[in-house]
Amino acid sequence: MRAEIWPVTEDFAAEVGDVDLSQPLAQDDVAAIRAAFDRYAVLVFPGQKLSTGQHLDFARLFGPLETTIATHRANDRLRVVPEIADVSNLNPRSEIWGKESRQRMFQLGNRLWHSDSTFKHTPAYASLLYARSIPPVGGHTEFADMRAAYDALPEGTKRRIDGLVCEHSIFTSRAKLGFTDFSAEERAAMPPVPQVMVRMIPQTGRKCLYLASHAGRVMGLPDDEGRALIEEMMAHATQRQFVYTHRWREDDLVIWDNRQTLHRGTPFDDLRWKRDVQRATVEDVANSCAQAGVKVPMQAAV
Ligand code: OGA
Ligand code: MN
Repeated sequence: MRAEIWPVTEDFAAEVGDVDLSQPLAQDDVAAIRAAFDRYAVLVFPGQKLSTGQHLDFARLFGPLETTIATHRANDRLRVVPEIADVSNLNPRSEIWGKESRQRMFQLGNRLWHSDSTFKHTPAYASLLYARSIPPVGGHTEFADMRAAYDALPEGTKRRIDGLVCEHSIFTSRAKLGFTDFSAEERAAMPPVPQVMVRMIPQTGRKCLYLASHAGRVMGLPDDEGRALIEEMMAHATQRQFVYTHRWREDDLVIWDNRQTLHRGTPFDDLRWKRDVQRATVEDVANSCAQAGVKVPMQAAV
């Protein structure tokens, strides 16, 4: 075995070195990486030179991949294959996007704390973000540890939120940025979905807060009370002591577990510098309510 695991924080983030992800991996390297991914929720693989195919092949070791959500109008061309989420600030000609572009407005949502694809019935398990080029300043990615955040809650709060279900919608996070220009068809195509507020990770038995900027209502609570609870939990969960900030180097591949982390991109001068980061996303096994055995009232169970 060659892969070496170097902790960056005690049990949240680690670097993995001496492994070349462009080549098929030995079984014991795969096992070491998987074990590290169960222990840490964020793994950094520096210095990887990957084609899109190699990026996707590595991602598939973790499970079936998502395909891109319809974030752009149907006649927009994609710069990348459908299995890659284009998180860059580039248009289909690989030029820096326009100030007023819809793509830019949409991606601003990544600056809000979130977990990937919680607005989909089956959310994301792992995300693998690969940096092909990065700006000289800014544009970091912050990760918050939802296991540590849950553990740090007062017992009374744990009792209050265990078993609660939130409605998640992509339009909730976009509305927070003043972006509400969606057609009826677009809204109908992505109805709100239920997700538990606290989830247990089968591999470790640990509990995590499971929230995102996409969470809008708490089922069974009045809207204002639910929103206030979500805000309170998000503020708690994203305190500095739970956060690891990843400062990108070119050719870093970072993988995170969306079940156990929140993340957000930090600002940079996106009208000046190219930031070409591309994400492969592995689906979770099922909706988080289904995994927890929580029954959800019909209207949100779509
Ligand atoms: C993502 C994401 C933030 C960033 O790729 O899912 O939210 O820093 N990225 O690019
Ligand atoms: Mn994201």
